[in-house]
Amino acid sequence: MADQKYLLNSEQMASFVSRGFLRFDELIPKGVNERAMREIDAGVTAAAAGTPLSQCYPAPSTLGEILRSPEIEGIIYSLVGPDPLFDHQAVHVREPNEDSAQHMHGDSTIDIRMHFDIQLMYFPHDVPLEMGGTLLVPGSQYRRINEMDIARYQNIVGQISMVCKAGTILVLHHGIWHCGRRNLSDQRRYMFKVRLNPAVRQMRLWNTSDLDANVGKHTPIFAKETPKDGIQAILSSYEPWFEEGTKRLEILNRIKMWRFLTGDENFDAHYWLTRLENMPENRVSA
Ligand SMILES: [Fe+2]
Repeated sequence: MADQKYLLNSEQMASFVSRGFLRFDELIPKGVNERAMREIDAGVTAAAAGTPLSQCYPAPSTLGEILRSPEIEGIIYSLVGPDPLFDHQAVHVREPNEDSAQHMHGDSTIDIRMHFDIQLMYFPHDVPLEMGGTLLVPGSQYRRINEMDIARYQNIVGQISMVCKAGTILVLHHGIWHCGRRNLSDQRRYMFKVRLNPAVRQMRLWNTSDLDANVGKHTPIFAKETPKDGIQAILSSYEPWFEEGTKRLEILNRIKMWRFLTGDENFDAHYWLTRLENMPENRVSA
């Protein structure tokens, strides 16, 4: 069981549901980063897909030490629960001044589950903009694609380039659109990634002690006004790339995911989903 004080809170979870990622800047200490770089350079043996994470990266292992740190355990537990399964790892190395970068893509293939895997990315050294770190498109995780379907898109308004300091952790929903950018510096760029599958039903795994207050204190669920803050507001926020005609579909996707994660089938934000579910003939009369 992860230490309760390191679990995510409800607003962080809502942000993950809404935007498909969370980042934790400079979470891993400098000395650990330097050891991790040496370990990555020496080569990191991967476990077989489906191995419980607790059996991966046995000591002595700096990457294992990172994954078993209370902060990372809290993040992992909140999103995919206890002892998730190792899916795969990747050490992404981008050489200086390469001619091309990785095309925009989603990992794996079309995945219609509500359940989600996480991709935990670890940046062991500083990544300035010219080093062209991982690029991601916030809020794209529910636009289901097959791998390189979106490869012709070079830039999307609202995209985020991971410019960060050493020791930063990025956690992604498996469906998010992303790529590795060109490295225009004169140094090799490294990023270590591990994908994890949940081994339990993902429901209320984070620190939910703030849940009711954050849902209800700002705006009643069925109020006409757009919520200004709290979970409803986070789930109702628009990304710059959302098309005017279809942007509300993403709000619906987020509401459905929040219901899935909380088990609260009556949750709504600004009445968007309840309106679509209104079939009076199905109401149970008193
Ligand atoms: Fe990828």
